[in-house]
Amino acid sequence: MAENSTPRVVPLVDERPRRLAAPAAAFAEATRLKPAGHLQDRLQRPLHDLRISVTDRCNFRCSYCMPKEVFDKDYVYLPQSELLSFEEITRIASQFVAHGVEKIRLTGGEPLLRKNLEVLIAQLAALRTPQGKPLDLTLTTNGSLLARKAKALKAAGLQRVTVSLDGLDDIVFKRMNDVDFPVSDVLDGIQAAQAAGLGPIKVNMVVKKGTNDHEILPMARRFQGSGVVLRFIEFMDVGATNGWRMDDVLPSSAVIERIHSTMPLVALEAAQAGETAQRWGFAGADGLHDPQLGEIGVISSVTQAFCGECSRARLSTEGQLYLCLFASQGYDLRSLVRAGSDDGDLASAIAHIWRGRGDRYSALRAALPPDNGLAAKRVEMSYIGG
Ligand code: GTP
Ligand code: 5AD
Ligand code: SF4
Ligand code: SF4
Repeated sequence: MAENSTPRVVPLVDERPRRLAAPAAAFAEATRLKPAGHLQDRLQRPLHDLRISVTDRCNFRCSYCMPKEVFDKDYVYLPQSELLSFEEITRIASQFVAHGVEKIRLTGGEPLLRKNLEVLIAQLAALRTPQGKPLDLTLTTNGSLLARKAKALKAAGLQRVTVSLDGLDDIVFKRMNDVDFPVSDVLDGIQAAQAAGLGPIKVNMVVKKGTNDHEILPMARRFQGSGVVLRFIEFMDVGATNGWRMDDVLPSSAVIERIHSTMPLVALEAAQAGETAQRWGFAGADGLHDPQLGEIGVISSVTQAFCGECSRARLSTEGQLYLCLFASQGYDLRSLVRAGSDDGDLASAIAHIWRGRGDRYSALRAALPPDNGLAAKRVEMSYIGG
C-alpha cells in the first residue's frame, strides 16, 4: 500500500527475539520471593493482566501490524520447537496467577490459527486465583475463524472474545486487512460468538486518518444497541515496520466529537482500574445514558497515554516476558522452564522482574527525540500480542 512505501529490509532470519532476550535465571537465583497474591512495580502498578501470544502467524496482513512488504513469503516465523507448549504456558500462567493476575488474554498473531487451542483454554480455565476465583479468560481475534470455532471455544471454558474489525465497507476493510477478506465473514463470526455466549463482545477498530475514518459513524450506528461494545483505537507506533506517522493518527477526541454530533454521548466511569479504554454511553432522549443503546470506548495510547495504571504483562509465543508493548527486550522464562526450574524459581523470577519494571513508553513518547534509535529495535505486535 502507498502508506507503507518506505524501503524495508526483509529479515531472512528473524533473530530479533533471541538477540534481545535477557536471561531470567539470574532473577530466579536472587533472594527468593514467594507469591503473595499481589506485586507492585517501581511505579506502584500491580500485576493484574497477562496477555499470552500463542502464535506469531496471522492470515491477515493489516498494514498497521504485519505489512505485506515485510511479512511476505520469505519471512521466517518461529519454528514449532521454539513455541511454548500448552503445558509450559499453563505452568508459567499459574505462577502469574499466584502473583495476582486475574485476567488472561490470548493473542497472536491470530490465536485461532494455533492448533488445538481449546486444549490450552481448558487448562487455563481450570486455574484459580489465590482467593479461589476463576479467571477472566478472553481472546483477541480477527474473527476469520470465529464462526467455525465459537462453540468449541465456549465449551472449552473461554468467557468472552474481542474481535478486530476496521470498517463495514468491503473496499475499505479489504484495504486494511490486505488479503481480500470480506466484512460479512467477520460479522458472521461476531454473531456466532454472541450465539455461543462469548459475551460481552468487544469490537476493536484501529482508526487511520484518511484510510478508514469515514467508517467511524457507520460502525457506531451498526453496533449501537447490539450488545457489542465498539472501541476505536488510535493508530500506534508499535513495532518497527508499520511506517507510523503522527499525520495518520486521528485523536480519540475527534472520534468522540464526530459521533456525538449525530449520536449524543455521555462519559461513563471506568469499569476497572488500569483499563485501556475510556467509556462513553449512548444517551437517550432524556440526555442520560441509555443502557439499551449501549456504549463505545476510545483507546488513546498516542494522545492520552494510560501508562500510569498499566498492569499488563506480556508473554511472547516463545516464552519471553515483556513489560511493555513498546519494549525491545524480553526476559527469557522459557529457558528457566526448560532448565527444570521449580515453581518457586519461576515465581521468584517473575516477582523480581515485575518489581524492577519502570516502563511507560506512551507517557514518555512525546518527550523522546523523534529519531532515538529505539524504534528500530521494538518488538512487533504480531510477536508480542496486542
Ligand atoms: P478488555 O478487558 O476487554 O477491555 O480488554 P483490553 O482493552 O485490555 O484489551 P484489548 O486487547 O481489547 O486492547 C485493545 C487495544 O488496545 C489493543 O489491541 C492495543 O491496540 C491497545 N492496547 C492494549 N493494551 C495496551 C497497552 O498496554 N498499551 C498500549 N499502548 N496499548 C494497549
Ligand atoms: N495501532 C493500534 N492497534 C494495533 N493493533 C495492532 N497493531 C496496531 C497499531 N499499530 C491492535 C488492533 C488489533 C489488535 C490485534 O492489535 O487492536 O485489533
Ligand atoms: Fe493479524 Fe490482528 Fe495483526 Fe491484523 S492486527 S495482521 S489481524 S494480528
Ligand atoms: Fe503499558 Fe507500555 Fe502501553 Fe504504557 S505503553 S500502557 S506501560 S504497555
